[in-house]
Amino acid sequence: MNKDISIIVPTYNEADAVTPLVERLHKVLSSHSYEIVFVDDDSRDGTADRIRALADRYPVKVFVRKDKRGLATAVVDGLPYAEGRIIGVMDADLQHPPEIMPDLIKAIEDGADFAVASRYVKGGGWREKDFLRGVISKGATFICHLFLPSSRRVNDPMSGFYAFRKEGIAGVELRPRGYKILLEMLVMGHFSKVTEVPFIFESRRLGQSKLNARQQTEYLKHIFSLMRRSGELLRFIKFCLVGGSGVVVNEGLLWLLTEFGGLYYLVSSAISIETSIITNYTLNDFFTFSDRRKGGLLNFLKRLGKFNLISMVGLALNWGVLAFLTSTFDMHYLVANLFGIAVAILWNYLANLWWTWK
Ligand code: GDD
Ligand code: MN
Repeated sequence: MNKDISIIVPTYNEADAVTPLVERLHKVLSSHSYEIVFVDDDSRDGTADRIRALADRYPVKVFVRKDKRGLATAVVDGLPYAEGRIIGVMDADLQHPPEIMPDLIKAIEDGADFAVASRYVKGGGWREKDFLRGVISKGATFICHLFLPSSRRVNDPMSGFYAFRKEGIAGVELRPRGYKILLEMLVMGHFSKVTEVPFIFESRRLGQSKLNARQQTEYLKHIFSLMRRSGELLRFIKFCLVGGSGVVVNEGLLWLLTEFGGLYYLVSSAISIETSIITNYTLNDFFTFSDRRKGGLLNFLKRLGKFNLISMVGLALNWGVLAFLTSTFDMHYLVANLFGIAVAILWNYLANLWWTWK
């Protein structure tokens, strides 16, 4: 009872790996008060029995799920069985070298709230790099960095090898799908100090990978679900609302300046466009990105400059898409313009999230 550290390990048909895993973990953790919590999805190769056979010599326990499948939910379902204040998570198949676990725990003991074993920091990498898997991994990382800014705190959010302080997920509802349990915890949990430790992702020698094409679509659904639950989707909606207010400002001022100001309409338009950019920026700064703004007038003006530049590119994109669709596909210009607007909104949103309010 009352272990300091709990290592949660999801297993599915890993009978040959669990004994060496436990032995190697014990070698490096025996000076700590630790336990290993296996969550097995009713493997047919006797994984759970092999683990039970280790229980008289090592602090291991196994919880078998009969009704569910999935790496990420297995880790979540293991949490109630974990006694430690520090939780570690890793794969069973020895692709995550157990000898790195003490480094992760040390990082937490030294003050970090969340420590990730990373392939993408100096000293990290792949034992054997499969080109396709490398590209998929980088692509998936780019997508989550783009849409989930809190994932940018780590270079390798695709890693499934990490440790954290349990308080960070107290009261947090975790609803992951697919494989990326780290991402779920990092985005939904409350962790301020996040750090990375390098590791070499080993090649699989025992058993088989369970990763397949289905997991890629699951991944995209998981990203969307995280955007919804973490408030990033709401942020995008706010950005669109502000954009709508900009249209009103732009049209209204164009009308006023042309009809009552006596200005040539193209001159009024230039003034209205710039005015709506400034009102959009100000509203976004205090409303859409209020949690990401840094104080000070200079910072405020710097962001305005960035926002302006991005908006100009957005205008060019809108115009380019309009020209392209009307000339190449003979599309009606009003329909083509809708596509142009959609592309420009997406560009403006993501570029601002990446640069202006980084
Ligand atoms: N309980 C349970 N249920 N465990 C599972 C399931 C499942 O449905 N599917 C896989 N696991 C377990 C495996 O037994 C293994 O211990 C671990 O989860 C990783 O599964 P692999 O199938 O070996 O995954 P991988 O090598 O393709 O992916 C790993 O590398 C990624 C980095 O590229 C995983 O660690 C990912 O978490 C990691 O992100
Ligand atoms: Mn693996």
